[in-house]
Amino acid sequence: MGVRELGLPQRVSSSGELPERVTIWEVGPRDGLQNEKSIVPVEVKLEFLDRLATAGLTTLEATSFVHPKWVPQLADAEQLLAGLDQREGVRYPVLVPNERGLNRALEAGVGHIAIFASATETFAQRNLNSTLDEQFSMFEPVVTRALAEGLEVRGYLSMCFGDPWEGAVPAEQVVKAGTRLLELGCSQLSLGDTIGVATAGQVEGLLAGFGEAGVDVGALAVHFHDTYGQALANTLAALRCGVSTVDASAGGLGGCPYAESATGNLATEDLVWMLDGLGVQHGVDLGALVETSVWMAERLGRPSASRVVNALGG
Ligand code: HMG
Ligand code: MG
Repeated sequence: MGVRELGLPQRVSSSGELPERVTIWEVGPRDGLQNEKSIVPVEVKLEFLDRLATAGLTTLEATSFVHPKWVPQLADAEQLLAGLDQREGVRYPVLVPNERGLNRALEAGVGHIAIFASATETFAQRNLNSTLDEQFSMFEPVVTRALAEGLEVRGYLSMCFGDPWEGAVPAEQVVKAGTRLLELGCSQLSLGDTIGVATAGQVEGLLAGFGEAGVDVGALAVHFHDTYGQALANTLAALRCGVSTVDASAGGLGGCPYAESATGNLATEDLVWMLDGLGVQHGVDLGALVETSVWMAERLGRPSASRVVNALGG
């Protein structure tokens, strides 16, 4: 299937302050594929990563070194890293929850890891088999050693807006947990709307909360799932607050196996379309990206969730 002639969105500059350039943190190979019912063969994952790099994405979250029984879809992490043809100028972060995961990641030669915490007690239990406090004790030696080994460390914080078991999550609780991750030594904190319930005002409120706590907005990234169709609106709200790193997943793949009702991530193509319209640079070739998602949808046997992929890739 080819990509239709691109009718590019009309460029109209925004009235609010927007960053000149946005870094897209592509999570499709990890957040996208961790949630697939079937296990995607490692050769397909490798081609997916290669195509994403060809499309101009420079941060490709490749896989996770978690317990293979917890996420069997990513049990091939070692094999994937061994087969990865790493491109110059592209970084390939991986998720690591604990010291066992860090050992595996170091043996595989990774240069960038992400730890992932929960802002709520219930999700810490369900996703990491630990309490909210225990998760920080699990991460502390991981971050210390990773930094000593010269790795970059990102921190994720999940359930920043709503939690399927605990309901709305107070901003103060999120700021407290997020600040702890930064204090551990994470260079960036990605705020996750794991189940996609946030709306734009909440996003502004939470970012203001981090600002009041003395956190530089440059250290923050946003990670929206699109369950209620708010991911793009929430991203625009975050950009207007000064955020310039946005997580997205090619074709809108994604979800979390341990969070009821989590659906796909913000689709990278939908993000790119909006950024093009706003005149914000991102470095991605939309046509090549749409072709990649059409190709991946064929491998997975179902259409992409991305509106832009469906508009351009049919
Ligand atoms: P546990 O069962 O409590 O682990 O799991 P344990 O420490 O008790 O160890 C039990 C056994 O597992 C031991 O083996 C360990 O060696 C082994 P045994 O001695 O019995 O033979 N083990 C491991 N093996 C391989 N790799 C490892 C590892 N760790 C222990 N890393 C654990 C605790 C944290 C490991 C588990 O809960 C886990 O793997 N959780 C990961 C869940 C996950 O990946 N969720 C999805 C990612 S988070 C997400 O998607 C949200 C995000 O997108 C942001 C958002 O949307 O909000 C990031
Ligand atoms: Mg996620």
